[in-house]
Amino acid sequence: MISKETIEQVLMRNDIETLIGSYVSLKRAGSNLRGLCPFHSEKTPSFTVYPADNSFYCFGCGAGGDAITFIRKRENLDYPDAVEFLAQRAGITIVRDERGPIQNTPKFDRNKMFRMNVDAAKYFNRCLFADNPEAKAALAYFTDKRGLSVATIKHFGLGFAPNSFDEFSKYMLAKGYTYEELVAGFLCGKSEKGKYYDAFRNRIMFPIIDVSGNVIAFGGRVMDDSKPKYKNSSDTPVFKKSRNLFALNFARHHCAESLILCEGYMDVIAMHAAGFENAVATLGTAITSEQARMMSRYTKKVIISYDADEAGQKAAMRAVKMLTEVGLDVTILRVPGAKDPDEYIKKFGADKFRQVLSQSKSKFDYNLDIILSRYDINLPQDKIKALQESEKLISETYSSAERDIYIQNISKLFGVDKNSVKDDVERMISKANAARRKEESNKVKQDAIGYSDRVNPDFIKAPAVAKNEEALLGLLLMYPEHRKRVFDGSLVTADDFITDLNRRIFEYLKNAYINGDDSHHDIDAVFTPDEHGRITKMKLSRMELSENGEQVLTDSIERLRRSVSKKNNEKNSSLDKLAQMIEQKRKT
Ligand code: GTP
Ligand code: MN
Repeated sequence: MISKETIEQVLMRNDIETLIGSYVSLKRAGSNLRGLCPFHSEKTPSFTVYPADNSFYCFGCGAGGDAITFIRKRENLDYPDAVEFLAQRAGITIVRDERGPIQNTPKFDRNKMFRMNVDAAKYFNRCLFADNPEAKAALAYFTDKRGLSVATIKHFGLGFAPNSFDEFSKYMLAKGYTYEELVAGFLCGKSEKGKYYDAFRNRIMFPIIDVSGNVIAFGGRVMDDSKPKYKNSSDTPVFKKSRNLFALNFARHHCAESLILCEGYMDVIAMHAAGFENAVATLGTAITSEQARMMSRYTKKVIISYDADEAGQKAAMRAVKMLTEVGLDVTILRVPGAKDPDEYIKKFGADKFRQVLSQSKSKFDYNLDIILSRYDINLPQDKIKALQESEKLISETYSSAERDIYIQNISKLFGVDKNSVKDDVERMISKANAARRKEESNKVKQDAIGYSDRVNPDFIKAPAVAKNEEALLGLLLMYPEHRKRVFDGSLVTADDFITDLNRRIFEYLKNAYINGDDSHHDIDAVFTPDEHGRITKMKLSRMELSENGEQVLTDSIERLRRSVSKKNNEKNSSLDKLAQMIEQKRKT
């Protein structure tokens, strides 16, 4: 057995983006990265890396999982060897004894690591104000190019990492830190040949500070157009990027009313400098449910202020969902005439920004605004199109109470009868439902026919039921609240599952929950890489959907229950019968 601590360290210290990036050439796609799948041959990239989640998934071949799964598949290693491979890569020593690989991870002194980060931050800051051409250029980037005052630079403790492979580490070694500690803190890297080098070179530095005031990580930006634009610390023993927010250390004192959520460090800094000290940002990843929950502990309302481009707007829609799910009031900000809030403030000033801030809109009104801005509703043709798109927007709202309110607003806005809007919306909903059912069943049929489902051989026996099992497991994988509800209430039992793999996954989740450790650190020890791929898919397909609340969970349990009683009555759906026929044919 490999201990939980070892596995967590190994996963933490092997940043998935960097790890996979050393095998596959990855391009940023919003907060994710995409590339050609190393596990099957393809021409268009369907292989995706999710830094926020530390996972990867290929929509082409279904390979997926975490860093350990990736290495098991890519390097053809068994589980303990893959863990050891990754440990070595991250400079963690694992000692094997006669009984197999047994952990012996170095104990990191958290306080020393915080001291190390403070010393590093001070070093970078000194380098920024040093008297040499390099430093002057870096300072000029902040002051001239980005318009920051020296006071703001000092407030955020910004810095500069010189263009050298060892200047920084020499300084830190002299201060009494070891290479192991520097690597563990992501301040140094170690080459294949075992040579150490400074992780941040020729970059302007943004220290990440937690709410207790500890320096926990760094982000470093290039000063030109070279790539990658940012290098951010991977997770370390004192830092988890999915659980922290940039500038929350300041914003926590100004968020009684609301927090402003941005994409970039520079947006946050510009806002604080302009007097909006309730701005925070995620750390180079899409917002996670942990961050959403954290924000809900500090404030009641979040204003999303992402980039104006399509990627930013898509990310905003995801953020709305995450934040609404934890009960926050959410509005979205538009910054007309600028690519991001930073640029807006620079172009139009703080007062103008305060104005647009007060006009931030709910998701529905925000999308309605976009529709209205595209049409001139004084022209009959335009008016009809705008009305149709607005009705479509309403039909995509899950709650019927909310839909009612929107129907009233829209009918007033367009001067049409409430009931006809309602009729249109209802028609759109049934049409969408029918289309979805058809697509689902087509997909299931295709799966059933083409499926050489080695991963879950039972799938073919009852594809529709197996799909629902996967939906339910996805919800459980994603949300601790759902696990609590289902397992505490014994709402579902292992016997409710028809397919063996899904039953095993359910049992695994349940045991982990009952044992009080939901970290799922031993998931790679329990499941094969292919099975882990399937598990990743279940989770991701839920993440893509707009509704994952309690009602969806209840519906899915209800469906599972119905199919179980149906199974007991030996009455199968025609779809399942078809699948069985195919199975029969395949066998003969
Ligand atoms: P400016 O271009 O200086 O305005 O930067 P920004 O801070 O506004 O960043 P941007 O909106 O481009 O990206 C938002 C955030 O995503 C950044 O603050 C980084 O944390 C992260 N990010 C951007 N580019 C990269 C990259 O190449 N690699 C990684 N790991 N993170 C990135
Ligand atoms: Mn920007």
